[in-house]
Amino acid sequence: MKNILFVASEGVPFIKTGGLADVVGSLPKCVDKKYFDIRVMLPKYTCIPEELRNKMVYKTSFYMDFHWKNEYVGILEAVVDGVTYYFIDNEGKFGGFRPYSSNVYDDIEKFSFFCKASLAAMPLLGFRPDIIHCHDWQTGLIPVYLKERFAGNEFFQGIKTIMTIHNLKFQGKWDVKTVQDITGLPDYFFTPDKLEAYKNANLLKGGLVYADAITTVSETYADEIKMPFYGESLDGLLRARSNDLRGIVNGIDYEEYDPATDKFLDYKYSASTFRKEKIKNKRALQKDLGLDQDDKIMMIGIVSRLTDQKGFDLIAYIMDELCQDAVQIVVLGTGEEQYENMFRHFDWKYNNKVSANIYYSEAMSHKIYGASDAFLMPSLFEPCGLSQLMALRYGSIPIVRETGGLKDTVIPYNEYEGTGTGFSFVNYNAHEMLGTIRYAEKIYYDKKREWNKMVDRAMAADFSWHVSARKYQEMYDWLIG
Ligand code: ADP
Ligand code: GLC
Repeated sequence: MKNILFVASEGVPFIKTGGLADVVGSLPKCVDKKYFDIRVMLPKYTCIPEELRNKMVYKTSFYMDFHWKNEYVGILEAVVDGVTYYFIDNEGKFGGFRPYSSNVYDDIEKFSFFCKASLAAMPLLGFRPDIIHCHDWQTGLIPVYLKERFAGNEFFQGIKTIMTIHNLKFQGKWDVKTVQDITGLPDYFFTPDKLEAYKNANLLKGGLVYADAITTVSETYADEIKMPFYGESLDGLLRARSNDLRGIVNGIDYEEYDPATDKFLDYKYSASTFRKEKIKNKRALQKDLGLDQDDKIMMIGIVSRLTDQKGFDLIAYIMDELCQDAVQIVVLGTGEEQYENMFRHFDWKYNNKVSANIYYSEAMSHKIYGASDAFLMPSLFEPCGLSQLMALRYGSIPIVRETGGLKDTVIPYNEYEGTGTGFSFVNYNAHEMLGTIRYAEKIYYDKKREWNKMVDRAMAADFSWHVSARKYQEMYDWLIG
């Protein structure tokens, strides 16, 4: 049996702000339990819902030196769906209404603490990982600390680390002196070949330098981040480590996201019944959201964090033009104020066609996947993207920009060969996107049979974890030897 410990800042069902939580919550369930024991370590945020906090059992606690103080570290444990979760507890560090604060400094302090405490807790778990699998910048210090203060401890000898990049844009950067003060790491680590990048300390960079292997969440993104445009200033390092870097596309939880059993859908449907049943969800959503009651109109869904990563500048640019067409646009998302207000504005202006739902809701997200005919995701960059996979599963045809995981998971429609599962465009250009949306409208309105065959293909595409989980297993085997 090989032991793997995921360390991450969020994971379903406990805490989620985006796709990272979906991956951390679903991949461990799908790895072969005969050979691998995968467990997950998360912070015990006070904003985790109470019914989930009640599932956690206190294991032990200790005090640890951190940032010139002696801090409490509690360890709790919970088992959900056969997966063991550990939680690092310290209310001062993990309080508040959200897992992340708007101030990077606070987050750097919080997650440096999390990294050090996670390592210090490991000998007390009764579970020695062969591999620590780290996710995003919040866990970047783990491979570093492992080579530093934990290196002398026999328990940690031979433990390997993997750093998975879910989003290279976020790196955990602050000035060297402050980060040195927080982390207690000596000068040696703050040089441009280690944690320093362009005069700042950079926690993700630390992880990328010291991890034994690096992965990211699609093959295309693995190529893209070796180039300056997508490399977020770390493309040089990623080129240098390209032998240790590979892309493994994400999957989604096919039990949780299943239109045939989805508890959030008013009308369940499957690949064989969508022609009759899916429309009922559209009617229900139109009624709920006060849109025109119209069976025939093409409904385009958007479920997303509202940030520039997701291509909202393109949408803002052509929204007036798009709203002249026979379409309905249903948005669910929260994030940057400018995009929240942009959608509120168009909801006000085209009230019977546009519905802006500026909040976070699991239930509403499922209803939109279940009701919409098409799903718009014109990202500027997209490491993998899970929303388009959910859309495919629910027979909502993705319209995407060909970048990162969007390129790897959506096959563009080819009307001559009758192939494809969605529509895509190449350049980050608003009218190229509008042209693609209009092409989709044309197929939807004029070639409904072709459209429905595309829905057949979309729903038949398999983005459950089993292929990708096997790739992780191969990597674990190879690393452990
Ligand atoms: P990212 O991780 O960059 O946000 P992904 O496409 O990988 O993008 O994952 C987004 C996840 O978050 C999906 O599960 C999506 O359904 C969900 N999501 C995003 N915004 C909301 C929202 N406002 N309400 C509910 N779920 C949301
Ligand atoms: C990040 C990326 C997204 C990816 C998710 C899970 O949030 O933005 O593209 O799907 O992580 O890997």
